[in-house]
Amino acid sequence: MTRIPVVVLISGTGSNLAALLEAARAEDCSYEVVAVLADREAAGLDHARAAGIPSQVIALGDYPDRAAWDRELAAAVTAHEPQLVVLAGFMKLLGAPLLEACAGRIINTHPALLPSFPGAHGVRDALAHGVKVSGCSVIEVDAGVDTGRILAQRAVDVLEDDTEESLHERIKAVEQPLLVEVVSRLTSAR
Ligand code: GRF
Repeated sequence: MTRIPVVVLISGTGSNLAALLEAARAEDCSYEVVAVLADREAAGLDHARAAGIPSQVIALGDYPDRAAWDRELAAAVTAHEPQLVVLAGFMKLLGAPLLEACAGRIINTHPALLPSFPGAHGVRDALAHGVKVSGCSVIEVDAGVDTGRILAQRAVDVLEDDTEESLHERIKAVEQPLLVEVVSRLTSAR
């Protein structure tokens, strides 16, 4: 079976990446993670290295300006000819070069029920607002901040004594299988 090539972008611990890689071990998996890119020396890169998947750090500080970084990121992603690009905890906004090169083929996972609490602190903002239910969203990426079409969501109850860390951990536990489900669905349909 031909597997659909997927590039994953990360900034953090890479637990969502690890879930994607674990699911890709199944013989009938519809996708293959062909490369992992990060904007910093992210701990999650170890998952790629352990799986023997090419990985690369493209750090903003190594480029003269944001536009040069945007161009390099787009070039690095498209070099792997992905049919789907997955932002799995990638903490930078994408610039026009990548958005245009992979238009309609980029998805993101976010730890809140969008359109509530977009941005870098979705878990913290939801807690501060006092919501009783939060969760995660997998969305299409457009030029806005977490404004793309919603592909799937899962709810998570907020507990009385939750901290940002404890709530985020429970969200991640449902976020990982949800991301795998969406990536599998999108790559099966292609
Ligand atoms: C995820 O909850 C993601 O939604 C958010 O950051 C977290 C990344 O976790 N943007 P990990 O790096 O996949 O463990």
